[in-house]
Amino acid sequence: MSLMKKAVFSLLALGLVAGLGGCGGEPDEITLTAEQEKAVAERLAPHGEVTLEKDVVSAAPVASASAEPRTGEEIYNKSCMTCHAVGAAGAPKLGDVAAWAPRIEKGIETLYANSINGIGGMPPKGLCMDCSEEEMHNAVDYMVEKSQ
Ligand code: HEC
Repeated sequence: MSLMKKAVFSLLALGLVAGLGGCGGEPDEITLTAEQEKAVAERLAPHGEVTLEKDVVSAAPVASASAEPRTGEEIYNKSCMTCHAVGAAGAPKLGDVAAWAPRIEKGIETLYANSINGIGGMPPKGLCMDCSEEEMHNAVDYMVEKSQ
């Protein structure tokens, strides 16, 4: 849609608002206004979509930056070591092969699920509420790797 056309439609929309607000109006006028309103709404719809696309495009760099998954080590240092470095509340310590062996035996999928949903004294996601599923997997992988 050309800029000129947009301007015309904006004016038309303004006119409608003014017309509606201005007076109770004649029946004829109201019918015409409703039709115009519909027409303008239809014309404006594509414009709205374009605006939305623009927003998505401009938001994309931010989204992709935060969507970049953090490494297991980063997540561990930020959220998991509080408990897993010292064995708080019975948490299996990082590097404690004996403590981890029976857990690793349960299978990595179980460990992923338990770390995300919580288990025993371990709160869901180890309280890393902004951790994505992938980042939780990275953190579990990191801990398992260091503990066998
Ligand atoms: C508040 C303390 C705490 C924090 C923080 C914490 N954990 Fe835990 N975690 C525990 C405890 C306690 C257990 C042992 C739970 C049990 O088996 O009863 C555990 C167990 C686990 C297990 C073994 C689960 C199983 O099925 O045996 C994994 C994997 C795990 N944690 C991963 C993580 C990850 C990844 C993070 C960081 C995102 C994290 N934990 C943060 C306390 C914590």
